[in-house]
Amino acid sequence: MNLVDQIICEVDKGIKFSLHNYQKENRRYPAYGINEDNLSEIERSHSANLMRVNHSGEVAAQGLYRGQAMTAKLEGTREKMDHAAQEELDHLSWCNKRLEELNEHPSLLNPAWYALSFGMGAAAGLAGDKWSLGFVHETEEQVVKHLEGHLDDLSLNDKKTAAILEQMQIDESKHSEEALESGAENLPEGLKKVMSVIAKVMTRTSYYI
Ligand SMILES: [Fe+2]
Ligand SMILES: [Fe+2]
Repeated sequence: MNLVDQIICEVDKGIKFSLHNYQKENRRYPAYGINEDNLSEIERSHSANLMRVNHSGEVAAQGLYRGQAMTAKLEGTREKMDHAAQEELDHLSWCNKRLEELNEHPSLLNPAWYALSFGMGAAAGLAGDKWSLGFVHETEEQVVKHLEGHLDDLSLNDKKTAAILEQMQIDESKHSEEALESGAENLPEGLKKVMSVIAKVMTRTSYYI
């Protein structure tokens, strides 16, 4: 593909991942077989808003991995990174499914998060593999902590959402480890701080919009 084809293809993917339940999972839905609890309206609405945030995070993960795949060499580690990206597609699908069950729509800001993450992933890839992997490692570390917070925050009655978030946490932790084993560089503290501020803006806004 030439550059124009590649850009058209990435924009198309970004729109699909951002706004539609386009992706089908490879692994079974973690909430499969768990009965839907009778959530109160407040519980349902809170769970739905948390899942909108997590869905946005997974849209951003797609941007990050696709941006990285476009520019990073990833010699010897591309297979591992592709596998992690495939697991992120499962997460995206599971978040979509749970949002639908909770009668909510994905965040309207997703295309912006996708574009921003794609740009950051591509820039990290251009900086070199060890930085690109460092970026993945730090992102996944922050996601694991974020999911911990959501699991604490969620109503104990919402076992379906909890099952999804627990499996995602296991996967994200593994992605973080794999990036480290593959030679991730420890990012400068200032950059980690910037990443966490961007993540906070994303999580706060996607909760509502
Ligand atoms: Fe994920
Ligand atoms: Fe991940």
